Amino acid sequence: MSVRKPFVGGNWKINTYLETGRALGREVVAGCEGIDDVEVAIFPPIAYVLPMAGVLGKADSKVLLGAQDCYPEPEGAFTGEMSASQVADCQATVVLVGHSERRHVIGEDDALINRKVLAVLAQDALTCMLCIGETLEQREAGQTDVVNESQLRAGLNGVSPTQLDRLIIAYEPVWAIGTGRTATPEDAQNAHARCREVLGELFGPDQAQAIRILYGGSVKPGNARELFGQPDIDGGLIGGASLKGEDFLAIIEAARS
Ligand code: PGA
Repeated sequence: MSVRKPFVGGNWKINTYLETGRALGREVVAGCEGIDDVEVAIFPPIAYVLPMAGVLGKADSKVLLGAQDCYPEPEGAFTGEMSASQVADCQATVVLVGHSERRHVIGEDDALINRKVLAVLAQDALTCMLCIGETLEQREAGQTDVVNESQLRAGLNGVSPTQLDRLIIAYEPVWAIGTGRTATPEDAQNAHARCREVLGELFGPDQAQAIRILYGGSVKPGNARELFGQPDIDGGLIGGASLKGEDFLAIIEAARS
């Protein structure tokens, strides 16, 4: 039995507006009332992080507020970006780093992602969710574990063991994100188990046992329970299905023990 508390995050990407986001946030908060065996976070578009802090704060909710990205430099001339300390100042407590859309659409490389991981973890108030995962081409070439390992090693370079309680990994096969295709529970479990081994090599086996590894990629109410039932899958990062309160809440329910 895992000692790791399941975590379910809703990545809204650039969907919702102020009012629709507020309504969705309120629905999630109401649905999570009384749930304390799963940690839940929402990742609204960056412009709505602070307004959403108002929604969560007003309801005195335990739903965590997340940001989808941040820039590694603390301040200066970086037009359009937002620093980790600004994200924290807007009351976010979790930050996604290295999401597949940042890697493959925006073009971020492992070196930049590593700088972001370190910048997020340098803020005591922030948890970093490092996203990793292989493309379809890499999967078909049998490279899934190799890609995950190299993204983990590069992304976590320089992370101190004392910061690990603020680290979460999200394994999201690129070919499964937003496509309706999901890894089989068995394939996902195998990838997660290998990721945990790599974390063990980096930080020691006991530390690796405590780090949550989430699955992401077309998680839906209909497949969540089986995925989350795998021994090394500690919840999920949800895109499309997090935009519908009812579906997101059903996925949270599926993560409960
Ligand atoms: P999806 O997105 O659930 O729509 O596949 C997951 C993600 O991008 O985190």
